[in-house]
Amino acid sequence: MRLLMCLSLTVVCSAAAAAAIAADNPQWAYPTIRQPANPDNTVMKTVPGSSKHYTQAQIDDPFNPPDWFPNEHPPMPQIVAHGGQRPAGRACAQCHLPTGNGHPESASLAGLPADYIHRQMAEFKSGRRAGPAAGAMIAVAQVVAEDDIAAAANYFSKLKPTPDYNKVVEADTVPKSYVGAGGMRLPAKDGGTEPLGNRIIALPVDATAAVLRDPHSGFVYFVPQDSIAKGEALVATGGDGKTVGCSLCHGQELKGMGEVPPIAGRSATYLFRQLNDIQDGTRNGPGIALMKPVVAKLDQNDMIALAAYLASRTP
Ligand code: HEC
Ligand code: HEC
Repeated sequence: MRLLMCLSLTVVCSAAAAAAIAADNPQWAYPTIRQPANPDNTVMKTVPGSSKHYTQAQIDDPFNPPDWFPNEHPPMPQIVAHGGQRPAGRACAQCHLPTGNGHPESASLAGLPADYIHRQMAEFKSGRRAGPAAGAMIAVAQVVAEDDIAAAANYFSKLKPTPDYNKVVEADTVPKSYVGAGGMRLPAKDGGTEPLGNRIIALPVDATAAVLRDPHSGFVYFVPQDSIAKGEALVATGGDGKTVGCSLCHGQELKGMGEVPPIAGRSATYLFRQLNDIQDGTRNGPGIALMKPVVAKLDQNDMIALAAYLASRTP
């Protein structure tokens, strides 16, 4: 199946901006991004503990996303809060949230090394990082100014990821779900369950709050039985030559080392996508050369296990 990721309110839905998903790429890790038809612009909404009110149309505004808890983070630079050049240069906080914790369909940026963020923006721009979920970032990276990248990298690198924002649960069956506007997977309105199979299914702890972009509302990653222990063994020992122990480069606690990014406590869906993109060659760049031997012999279940274990760690 070939799916194109449509990633902007307006124009960015092209093969150039986002590679088509290869036949063996699991659809659950690469949600098709849809925009809501007509978000409501009359009913004022709020989230627990916030004194602010926004309509859903305001909540979905790519150049003025909600800031429910302005006292919980340092002042956001203009590019983070309001974006830059229209229509592609949307506010980083729209997808990554003011906390930098992000959503399963985007990425967490909180606490990433500033130099690493900077380099990734260059990789997106150059087309070296062009996995099926990278379309939104390629569009942003092509128009964002150098000063703004520096400001955003500085902002996100100083934030601390929220512990317990990402929870991992081993399961055989999961709630039925669908991919909603913006690419977020939500529980089916009619309820019901289905077999998990060899997938990672990410669902918000509180779907209503997550759709309102409440940064307090985290996610549960349902992973196959025994995958956490299987992932732990691969991470620790490299699985008898199947891969390379991760702490060598990502640090003893997998919280990053120098410019090598942290991998503990981050979204399992995001981590899986990266391992898969690095293996199939859609994510490249000088730093990725070090990751090639790590992923070369992994199959999809190994990647699920690695992502499950890593996401279950404290960030
Ligand atoms: C419309 C949504 C959207 C906006 C706006 C957005 N991003 Fe992203 N960003 C994403 C998605 C989706 C990914 C994950 C890509 C993937 O999985 O391949 C991502 C990934 C990233 C990464 C890679 C993280 C890593 O660990 O390697 C960086 C860095 C990043 N974004 C920075 C930014 C900055 C800085 C801005 C603002 C200038 C921004 N993003 C705006 C959607 C967005
Ligand atoms: C020899 C060094 C090395 C080893 C060993 C290594 N990594 Fe990496 N890894 C890197 C570097 C460097 C990057 C950043 C690549 C870049 O700059 O684009 C990276 C990036 C990643 C990313 C993407 C992170 C992001 O924010 O997008 C993931 C996921 C990852 N590694 C997982 C692992 C896992 C799991 C293991 C162990 C099984 C592992 N790595 C072992 C060097 C290594």
